[in-house]
Amino acid sequence: MKKIIKKIIPHFVFERLKRLLNLIKLNKNYFNEMRRYSKYSFELTKNKTQRHLESNLIFFYHKIEKGLSLPNPRVGFGEKKVYHLLELVKVYYNRFGWDKTAQVSLNTLFAYYKFNKDHNLDLKDLYIELEELKKISTNNTTVGGVTNINLKDIESARINFKDFANSRYSLRAFLPGEIPLSKIRESVEIAQKTPSVCNRQSCKVYVFDKYRKDAILKHQNGNSGFGKDADKVLIITANLKDFRGPKERNQAYIDGGLFSMSIIYALHSLNVGTCALNLSLDYRDEEKLKEDAKIPKSEVALMMVALGNFPESFYVTDSPRRNTKDVLKVIDGSSS
Ligand SMILES: Cc1cc2nc3c(=O)[nH]c(=O)nc-3n(C[C@H](O)[C@H](O)[C@H](O)COP(=O)(O)O)c2cc1C
Repeated sequence: MKKIIKKIIPHFVFERLKRLLNLIKLNKNYFNEMRRYSKYSFELTKNKTQRHLESNLIFFYHKIEKGLSLPNPRVGFGEKKVYHLLELVKVYYNRFGWDKTAQVSLNTLFAYYKFNKDHNLDLKDLYIELEELKKISTNNTTVGGVTNINLKDIESARINFKDFANSRYSLRAFLPGEIPLSKIRESVEIAQKTPSVCNRQSCKVYVFDKYRKDAILKHQNGNSGFGKDADKVLIITANLKDFRGPKERNQAYIDGGLFSMSIIYALHSLNVGTCALNLSLDYRDEEKLKEDAKIPKSEVALMMVALGNFPESFYVTDSPRRNTKDVLKVIDGSSS
């Protein structure tokens, strides 16, 4: 049909029509993304689930742990937020019981109390409330607050990242053989260290084994000729329930992109070959994929990763990079 229209109408009309059609498609996609974001994100949803309230606890306790990590925290800083968090913990407990997130919130509040007490501000009322909550706490997590780090401990963990990064290639020539789930679990554990906005950790990884992955790969348009040889396929998603108002509308893609890169590097460190696969889908196709893959509607499907064993020798694309001078711009303020 497209070919026939192209033949019978002038080129410039065809180009205009194409542009118009793309503009309509773009509007439809943005409109549906907006609808999805307003349905699930924290400040826009009508239906706050446990995940929303859990992320909200993280959002507020992170403000306190962040304050405690500054070079010179002001004694008594953020008291309003502290009492707000206290209320949020109570509401959360009443609705969902006590869990790790409630415990970390409480530990952070205790750390805040201790910091102030150590600086001669004894917030007695706060302490009484915290002790009350401690009585109902059933989780043994001890983290929450701040930790002192010695530079030498970080230095001893340094690797030659330049060599490591340069030794990663997208693999499109998988050798048959199983990648144990334990390696994927380890890569996820490593990727969980990826920074995320207010530490809200929105990402999730779905693994499809060799029996399921071909059906999943049918939703993706860039794996022909090699997807069939992958041992497993991952889908990486981000949960919109972890994001807040209109300003965070793109945060899922940012946090998800960082997380995905970590997974790819983590798998590379475990000697697993990977190829990232785009999920640049029309919103209806994304819905179909999620339905097939049993991914909840509140999650954005960000990308797939095909993975498998390395052969002894293989071809990779050269994929030359741009000149660094075109990527790095130094804004020199000394002359202004
Ligand atoms: C988000 C994303 C989506 C990608 N999608 C595909 C894809 O669908 N098919 C494919 O063969 N490669 C895909 N790639 C791999 C890129 O082509 C590759 O990363 C790039 O050419 C650089 O090469 P390198 O990974 O070997 O360094 C994708 C990469 C990213 C980051």
